[in-house]
Amino acid sequence: MAYSEKLIDHYENPRNIGSLDKTAEDVGTGLVGAPACGDVMKLQIKVGPDGLIEDAKFKTFGCGSAIASSSLVTEWVKGKTIDEAETIKNTDIARHLALPPVKIHCSVLAEDAIKAAIADYRAKATKKDDKADAAE
Ligand code: FES
Ligand code: FES
Repeated sequence: MAYSEKLIDHYENPRNIGSLDKTAEDVGTGLVGAPACGDVMKLQIKVGPDGLIEDAKFKTFGCGSAIASSSLVTEWVKGKTIDEAETIKNTDIARHLALPPVKIHCSVLAEDAIKAAIADYRAKATKKDDKADAAE
């Protein structure tokens, strides 16, 4: 199988590997697994006071396409609002990396992971608002 240069680049030089403090109020964490192969991906975002994603990190226990997909997504989301980041589709990832059909689920994992991270961030922000309301 021939893999694209972009895929190999993201696989060999993955961007933004690591972890953010998942207890921090401005950090959202998404942890998802791929039923098709048992791979696991953790993706985190840190949202700045201006509402833009200022940092993103990932850890992926999985195949090269999953690593490349998560690396790409962390690059894409930086500087975006969470609403914008939420519109990223696995098909965009798959197209950009030219994933072969059998590896499409790896890009689905990355879409699920960013959505889960955003959901976690929103849940925390809502809790914070509730607390602020209660304190008023
Ligand atoms: Fe799971 Fe890709 S099949 S590593
Ligand atoms: Fe399963 Fe890539 S995430 S083969």
